[in-house]
Amino acid sequence: MNDGQVPFVDIRRETASLKDELVEAVERVLDHGRFILGDEVKAFEALMEREAGFPKGSVIAVSSGTDALLSALMAHGVGPGDRVVTTPFSFFATAGVIARLGARPFFVDIDPVTLNLDPAGLASLNPEDFKALLIVHVFGRTADVEACRAWCQAGDVAIIEDAAQAVLGRDETGKPVGLLGAVGCFSCFPTKNLGAAGDAGFQVAEDPAMAGRLRTLRTHGQISAYDSVMVGGNFRMDALQAAVLSVKLRHLKRWTRERYHRADRYDRAFRDRGLDRALGLPPMGTPTTWVVHQYVVRSPERDRLRAHLEQMGVASQIYYPKPLHRMEAFARVGETNGPLPEAERACEEVLALPVSPQLSVEAQDRVIDAVAAFDGFSI
Ligand SMILES: Cc1ncc(COP(=O)(O)O)c(C=O)c1O
Repeated sequence: MNDGQVPFVDIRRETASLKDELVEAVERVLDHGRFILGDEVKAFEALMEREAGFPKGSVIAVSSGTDALLSALMAHGVGPGDRVVTTPFSFFATAGVIARLGARPFFVDIDPVTLNLDPAGLASLNPEDFKALLIVHVFGRTADVEACRAWCQAGDVAIIEDAAQAVLGRDETGKPVGLLGAVGCFSCFPTKNLGAAGDAGFQVAEDPAMAGRLRTLRTHGQISAYDSVMVGGNFRMDALQAAVLSVKLRHLKRWTRERYHRADRYDRAFRDRGLDRALGLPPMGTPTTWVVHQYVVRSPERDRLRAHLEQMGVASQIYYPKPLHRMEAFARVGETNGPLPEAERACEEVLALPVSPQLSVEAQDRVIDAVAAFDGFSI
């Protein structure tokens, strides 16, 4: 906390808590001077496999969550004119990568409770018209991939997970997020549950042939120096990011528990005060089906609530203020099957409250008191 304010996240506190370990890891890289891929990246991949329960050799460390998605689509041959089904309620990159390949994002409405793509929206679509399903686990809540599987199999539609916000998540059967489709794509943007000191991300692919393809794509499609067999990109993770991530990854399970604990505290406190009648509260799920990347409440009075919180010194964020199908960037290429009212309404009502592991009990109590003090609820 600074000056009695409650920040939305406090990365400096997270860094400070691991300062010595991080400095030592960074110094090691500076001393050996091999800055791209190398031993640190291999060590991060192996550690990630152990921590998340992924098979050996399945993790590919890359330059960002966006590049993880882009190369996953490239590995599936997504190209001009292809259609990819996805959610309108996500970060830009989810649909941006589809459009960058000349393909068309096809937006299906969301479930108003989970805020993830509603599998029922697939029923009216012919799977043979689609190349891939890019499914997002928004705010760290595992999406219902299983409910989409039969539709995908009917048309040979590849399932790609945008798991940018869902590291260490699992589905209801305990299967790790990332292994629910052909490729799982994760972001290590600094504010993510596992954040680098810059841009980074990783992919997971259970099929060794797919993992190999992604590795080849990561370095311009090269199979040996200056000899490429496919068009890839520079999607490599650098050694400094891998060194930082390996230090932090050792703490991720604890941080994930702490996130869920904070979400649970909000849930109890809001219900105790009867605020569940005024606010849409996120379903608690379980600590693995929801890794609590964001704690997002809903209110038709969202903008006034946010202004009130700001006045009380409590930071909040709006994820997401505009659905992807409404963005000018997708005006020419994006498609829908009609209006998407749930996504539209969510964008008007959602408000993310601070929930990071660095949020102290006192600071969280201030958030709770500030929400309770809002006089604009209609109850
Ligand atoms: C849902 C989602 N997809 C994709 C991305 C892109 O990840 P990155 O910022 O690491 O490129 C992000 C995060 O920013 C995200 O939240």
